[in-house]
Amino acid sequence: MQNEIEVLQMTDMQHDLSLKEFNTFGIDARAALFARPENLEQLTLLLEEYDHRQLPFLIIGEGSNILFKSDFEGLVVNPGMKGIELMEDNGQQVLIRVGAGENWDNWVQHATEQGWFGLENLSLIPGSVGSAPIQNIGAYGVEMKDRFAWLDAWDLQQKQSVRLQKEECSFRYRSSIFKTEARGRYIITHVAFRLNRAPDLKLGYGPVKEAFSLAGGSTPLDLRNVIISIRNQKLPDPDTHGNAGSFFKNPLVDMTIFKCIRVDYPDIPNYPDSENRAKIPAAWLIEKAGWKGKRMGNVGTWPSQPLVIVNYGGATGQEIFDFSEQIRNDVDRKFSVYLEREVNVV
Ligand code: FAD
Ligand code: EPU
Repeated sequence: MQNEIEVLQMTDMQHDLSLKEFNTFGIDARAALFARPENLEQLTLLLEEYDHRQLPFLIIGEGSNILFKSDFEGLVVNPGMKGIELMEDNGQQVLIRVGAGENWDNWVQHATEQGWFGLENLSLIPGSVGSAPIQNIGAYGVEMKDRFAWLDAWDLQQKQSVRLQKEECSFRYRSSIFKTEARGRYIITHVAFRLNRAPDLKLGYGPVKEAFSLAGGSTPLDLRNVIISIRNQKLPDPDTHGNAGSFFKNPLVDMTIFKCIRVDYPDIPNYPDSENRAKIPAAWLIEKAGWKGKRMGNVGTWPSQPLVIVNYGGATGQEIFDFSEQIRNDVDRKFSVYLEREVNVV
């Protein structure tokens, strides 16, 4: 009992809380219990209590990659560790440790304002720093793993704090151990990044080079501004149109299937992955399956980017899920390609 009172005071546990403000689809799901530990001490106290109660458990950052199909009858933990800490600076590279509860884009803004190169292509991605390693966020030719050094996490199995190096995280395209074999095992509390002081701009992706040369400039902040403007033109703002970014991953397709599709669509866009597979844009498959700009009730695909499913207001998580399954089935029927969800369904 003493322990419970302590936890409630230290972490401000909330009961029967609406998660509407904690997911960018704007779904009004409820959490039976919700807590935001702001340091390791609060987190460990909370977990002692959680162990005692044996409740279902969910970690949430800013909810920009989660779809709630129903209420969550358990404890939702929202890591609130703050801080941007310079750990090393050898004149060429800096090593920075950032709290899981920092907003990702605030951190990128800070890094680019310091003139540190490396994260500018990942500007304006919603979410918290602690969530970035989960799916190894990526955009415009850069993935988080390219700048990742290590992370600190609470290991729920060993019940202790651990440091995981890059090789231990198995980062891949939109994946890591945190989405696969170690799913649910770790609560990430801090992430460390290695950034360059020397110029190191990545301009290879699609329209970036042209837009950057038109805008002019040479600093990470200049490229950040170009990326922000490209993203603002293409993607819906969750504040006005609830969404979670790309709903599915871009599929890696077996070459035999790819060649079959190419018979009917000789200009199919693709990025070769290896001798046996090609990566096809899911947006293209969804468009060709007839789902671009399609709306059913309160749910639809975004007119200029059909990979993004939008809550036009008042949709339930179940409606969004059902809509996404219809897309998935149609793409599978038409192309024999089964789309894998990027969004985490709860
Ligand atoms: P949440 O949605 O809260 O959680 C995501 C997952 O991580 C959940 O499984 C959760 O349990 C787990 N998790 C969260 N925090 C922790 C933690 N501290 N420890 C352990 N597990 C944790 N993604 C890209 O990669 N590239 C893009 O370009 C991109 N663009 C987007 C654009 C829009 C408009 C939107 C809405 C989303 C976009 N996304 C993109 C997806 C999203 O921004 C990222 O996946 C982001 O990292 C999610 O962060 P979050 O804090 O909101 O995570
Ligand atoms: N396309 C169409 N029709 C459309 C839109 C796009 O056919 O209406 C095709 C085009 O061939 C286009 C291609 O899709 O060239 C790629 O489109 P885009 O550049 O918009 O990127 P994407 O592959 O759809 C990925 C990420 C985004 C990331 C961008 C930029 C995935 C699942 N999505 O989208 O990440 O911002 O590239 O790097 O890899 C996210 O993960 O939530 C996300 C938004």
